[in-house]
This record gives sequence, structure tokens and C-alpha cells, in this order.
Amino acid sequence: MTEILRVRGNRPARGKILQAAEVIRKGGLVAFPTETVYGLGASAFNPGAIRRIFEVKGRPRDNPLIVHVADPDRVETLASSFPARAKALACAFWPGPLTIVLKKRDSVPPEATGWGPTVAVRMPAHAVALSLIESAGVPLVAPSANLSGRPSPVIAGHVEEDLAGLIEMILDGGKTTIGMESTVVDFSGRAPRILRPGAVTAEDMEAVIGDAVVPGVDETGPAVPKSPGTKYRHYAPQAKLVLFAPENYREEISGFLAGHRMKNRKIAVIAFKKRHIYRDCLNIYAGCEPLAVAGRLFQIFRSLDALKVDLILAEPYLKEGGLAGMVKDRLLKAAGGKAGLRDEGLIF
Ligand code: TXA
Ligand code: MG
Repeated sequence: MTEILRVRGNRPARGKILQAAEVIRKGGLVAFPTETVYGLGASAFNPGAIRRIFEVKGRPRDNPLIVHVADPDRVETLASSFPARAKALACAFWPGPLTIVLKKRDSVPPEATGWGPTVAVRMPAHAVALSLIESAGVPLVAPSANLSGRPSPVIAGHVEEDLAGLIEMILDGGKTTIGMESTVVDFSGRAPRILRPGAVTAEDMEAVIGDAVVPGVDETGPAVPKSPGTKYRHYAPQAKLVLFAPENYREEISGFLAGHRMKNRKIAVIAFKKRHIYRDCLNIYAGCEPLAVAGRLFQIFRSLDALKVDLILAEPYLKEGGLAGMVKDRLLKAAGGKAGLRDEGLIF
């Protein structure tokens, strides 16, 4: 049985947080809201509880977890070094949607870090998350609280959909504000590198530390430490999602739909301009500004799954700069890493 406790997002009742902290202390799993997405929390120092996180999510064991702290001073107990520039970023963006990868200390169980030499740390900007971590008295490992490969949960109902009956408790603190996962920046190598784009952008970080932050993961370079999570299909609806390339996408989408009109299949098109309406499909407007899209995209994926849509076509997201990179990244991942119809081998 999964107990669901409703809490005020900005000022959770102390009694309920203490109840959740007790579950954590006993080695249980508690899903909780953060400003990005819901996390599935366990004590970062309890290997058995960490192993259960991987089991219930169906997550590959080499995919490390983020350790969540309520106080930046805790980092020194988890990481063997906290370089000055990384510290400056923590100072500027914590609490907030920034995860920093550092060389780990032996105190962090290998189960938490996929047996790798580094640990990812973040201090979330959410009263429920922070008071839970404080009350539990330990940092919390917390991946997104979804089944592996599914879209991250932005409301407690999404957590319930995926994990009801599998975890001890869900703290329902309402909808998360950002709706997509934190930026992951790696400080374990020579130059800081973004392993996953999020709401804190390369420009945001460069404004603080002066140096260049290398965006993106270099898949070709040999010695680049990359986020193991980036090699799996991610954030994806159950239906296949085809992301169209920028060239002539409106004609391509219309042409595809016309070619499939008689096949009695449910096709949805996700558009980023309100006036883009297509025939013979379910039209979904996902918003235009990056934050609007971020707040909606995973919910849209889950709704389309509930409607048993057979295929999702997505317009390319054409905005540049700022938070646009985060949206593009999640769309590309949901499409299995490819844009365009040509190489798709789409049997439909
Ligand atoms: O916003 C978020 O980050 C949410 C909330 C709950 O905090 N958490 C989240 O966790 O998205 P998860 O496990 O779904 O994604 C963590 C990502 C994965 O791609 C993982 O591979 C990467 O961070 N990661 C974790 N530890 C790492 C490490 N030591 N080195 C490189 N990448 C790491
Ligand atoms: Mg995840």
C-alpha cells in the first residue's frame, strides 16, 4: 500500500513531513515534489533502500542517482573536492535546478553512483523537499519518480500511475513549477561540461564563473565522462514519437497525415504555434515559450498515452537560446535521439 499525504507546497505541515522522514529512516521510499519534477527519495546512506529504487523503477544499475541536500555545507561530506567554480555555481543557483557532478567520497555507497567515481549533488528549491531532507537527517538520493523510460512526473497523480503499490509514500505538494529535470553540470573533468540541459543554462553559469561551460555531451570524443542516463530512451510516451526536422516540416507533417488518413490509426500532432492546425489528427498545442512548454510537455505525453494514441508527430521546436535548449533536448530524447522522417524506417 502506498500512503498519499497531501501537503501545502510552500508550507508543509510538520507532522506529515515527520511521518515521511520516519519512512525514510526505516529504509522506505517516499516520492516528493521538487521545483523540477517529483523525485523518488531514499536515504543516500542506505544501500538496501537504494537498491529498491532501481528495482521499482526498472532502472539500469549503472545509471547513477542525484544526491539531494538541504544545505550546501553537506557537499564536503559527499565529495572529495568542491572546486571554487563549482562552489560559486552552488552559491548562485542553490537552492535550484542545478546538479553538480563532483569526485565522490567513500562515504557515498557505490549503489548510489552506479559504481562510478563521481557523485551528483543538488539542493532543490522546494519547501517540501528541503524539510523532508532536514527531518530525515540524511541526504536523499532521488531519481525522477517515474518508471524508467517514462516521462518524469510533474503531479503526484503521475507518480501514482507508475509506482502505486510499489513505494511506501507519496507527498502530494501539487504541480511542480518547472516541469523538466535539473541541469547536470560535470565538474569532475578539466572543463565544466553540461551533461543534461535544464533551467540553469550555459550562459547563466558563464555569467557567474567567467569560463566557458561546454554545452552538450560529446558522443564522439573518447575520454568524455558522460551521463550514463543519456544513453537510454527517455522522457518518452508509450506511442512512438517522430520529431520533424525544421525544413518544410508543415508540408511533411500534412503529407504524412494525408498518406495515413484511411488507416484508422490515432495520430496526434504536437505544435508550438497556436495557429498550426493539421487535418486528420488530434491537434495538441504545447505552448510557445520554453517555460510554458516545459510545464506541459510531460503531461501531454502521459495524456496521449491515456488516450491510446498510436503515433505522435512533433513539430520541431524552433526557439533559440535560454531555456529552449532544455525543451529541444527532451523532445529529441523522446524521439529516440533522431529528428526527421527519413531514417525512421517507420512501419505503420
Ligand atoms: O530535476 C532533477 O534532477 C530530478 C529531481 C527529482 O531532482 N531528478 C532527476 O533524476 O532527474 P534522474 O535520476 O531521473 O536523472 C539524473 C540524471 C541521469 O541522467 C543520470 O545519469 C545523471 O543525472 N547523473 C547522476 N549522477 C551522475 C554522475 N555521477 N555522473 C554523471 N551523470 C550523473
Ligand atoms: Mg529520470
